[in-house]
Amino acid sequence: MKNTVATLQQQKLDGDKITMLTAYDYSTAKLVDECGVNTILVGDSLGMVMLGYEDTISVTMEDMIHHTAAVTRGAKNALVVGDMPFMSYQTSVYDAVVNAGRLMKEGRCQAVKLEGGASVCPQIKAITEASIPVVAHIGLTPQSVNAFGGFKVQGKSEADARRLIEEAKAVEAAGAFAIVLECIPAKLAKLITESVSIPTIGIGAGADCDGQVLVYQDMLALFSDFKPKFVKHFANAGEVMKQGFTDYIKEVKEGTFPAAEHTFKIADDIINKLY
Ligand code: KIV
Ligand code: NA
Repeated sequence: MKNTVATLQQQKLDGDKITMLTAYDYSTAKLVDECGVNTILVGDSLGMVMLGYEDTISVTMEDMIHHTAAVTRGAKNALVVGDMPFMSYQTSVYDAVVNAGRLMKEGRCQAVKLEGGASVCPQIKAITEASIPVVAHIGLTPQSVNAFGGFKVQGKSEADARRLIEEAKAVEAAGAFAIVLECIPAKLAKLITESVSIPTIGIGAGADCDGQVLVYQDMLALFSDFKPKFVKHFANAGEVMKQGFTDYIKEVKEGTFPAAEHTFKIADDIINKLY
């Protein structure tokens, strides 16, 4: 059954953990969806894991629409959330609504996500009023990497922790239906989760969030540039892929691939006439 905004809300009430994974293409979205994940995020992390940028700053609306459309074609049951890239919503409420609308109309996602707290509440309110469900994202918001001075844990000081609690309440009041909490202390994430009635989805935010999200290349060990502390390798798919690539190279060199069963036949009398 298709997961909706209402499904996630009910999961928070039932204490049924919400599962979210990223995907950026049709084939992966299908695999993730078939495993029964509740929601798929087409993250702007695609700039790093798919396109090889060192941060998410350069990701465009065209990138996001292109990949979101591929994912929605593969996701039957998961709720698909399209990430709004840097400068697609910060510039104005008008830009935010137009670009959220493009992600939904052209990418066919069921919700959008944007980064920030109080400063983007007018955008969250306007997008929500346009009937586009919004996931908020606070804590370590990677689009602010230059303002933060690096990818760092947020909310460790009393003032920062208080600010994050207020931001969670503010984005809820603005209409967000869920909040991603990234890289904040576990006990603070628990307090925030108890302080809002919308579900929290954590990444590097401990086990007491209403749900969890990971970038699939991180959790499958497909991305080796660096490994954040919050990442667990659930499988070593990178090794499996390398083994497959290596075996292919070897068999082609040896002439053992393709074998008879991989080839097409022609009648001997026909081929003999051609010699
Ligand atoms: O872009 C992304 O993948 C994200 C998640 C890590 C929450 O925003
Ligand atoms: Na993101």
